[in-house]
Amino acid sequence: MNRTTAENPLKKLDDWDDFVASRYKENKDREEFRNYDPDVNPGVAEFYRLNHALQTVDFVQDKEREYLPLQKEQKTIWEAAEFLNTLVDDSDPDTDLTQIEHLLQTSEAIRMDGHPRWFVLTGFIHDLGKVLCLYGEPQWAVVGDTFPVGCAYSDSIVFPEYFRANPDSQNPLYQELYGIYEPHCGLENVHMSWGHDEYIYQATRNYLPEPAHYMLRYHSFYSAHRHGAYRHLMSPHDEEMFQWVRKFNPYDLYSKGAAKPDLPEILPYYQDLIAEYFPGKIQW
Ligand SMILES: [Fe+2]
Ligand SMILES: [Fe+2]
Repeated sequence: MNRTTAENPLKKLDDWDDFVASRYKENKDREEFRNYDPDVNPGVAEFYRLNHALQTVDFVQDKEREYLPLQKEQKTIWEAAEFLNTLVDDSDPDTDLTQIEHLLQTSEAIRMDGHPRWFVLTGFIHDLGKVLCLYGEPQWAVVGDTFPVGCAYSDSIVFPEYFRANPDSQNPLYQELYGIYEPHCGLENVHMSWGHDEYIYQATRNYLPEPAHYMLRYHSFYSAHRHGAYRHLMSPHDEEMFQWVRKFNPYDLYSKGAAKPDLPEILPYYQDLIAEYFPGKIQW
């Protein structure tokens, strides 16, 4: 196994998204429960084993220092989407959606439900942070459920047993309920495991309204928005804003079955929409 395969056990990034969608599907059948079984789904299990073992406080702070000054390059939103589309996983090009098609299925489902334009735009950009893969980051540092580092892990995070291999689990302070944080300090003061959510939030935060910030920044924080964990770190304002994260989540999870978007037909709408909120090239 070469180094890349060892770090990237998912055949494609979408395998994680598909696993999450199956986890939260209503009326799961027996077969679907078996998706948690490492024998049935070895790529997903290995992916979480790496993610939970390697996302430490030190790792997260290194990545924040590396990426959050946004000094990589300048690109328009559309250029970033086309760049993300060059991501070639080991997938079947006939049946799989491209990255842009997943973004458009999400945003079109939001548009069909009559939500405001900024909400549609948020759907379109929500996974652009996955360009981290093209900057050389392994899958476990790009996708996966996100969680706070520097405090006790919630049992409602998927595969919690894999945290035993994380060096932070040997640090007594990091294993206290509040760890390095204060009660109800607000999520803006909490370091989340590193991934595509934080990156797209930071790259676009100056251009979108606050509910969009929460949707982007916490869309993979399933233990909080699905299971109600980590309320002891959230401020009353976070609690209020999480209604938007929950409003967004079904469009991310369940829009995949929809028809393939007809790009030439809807492109002008998206070009106008992007131009309404973004100044052209932005910093990444
Ligand atoms: Fe995502
Ligand atoms: Fe997504």
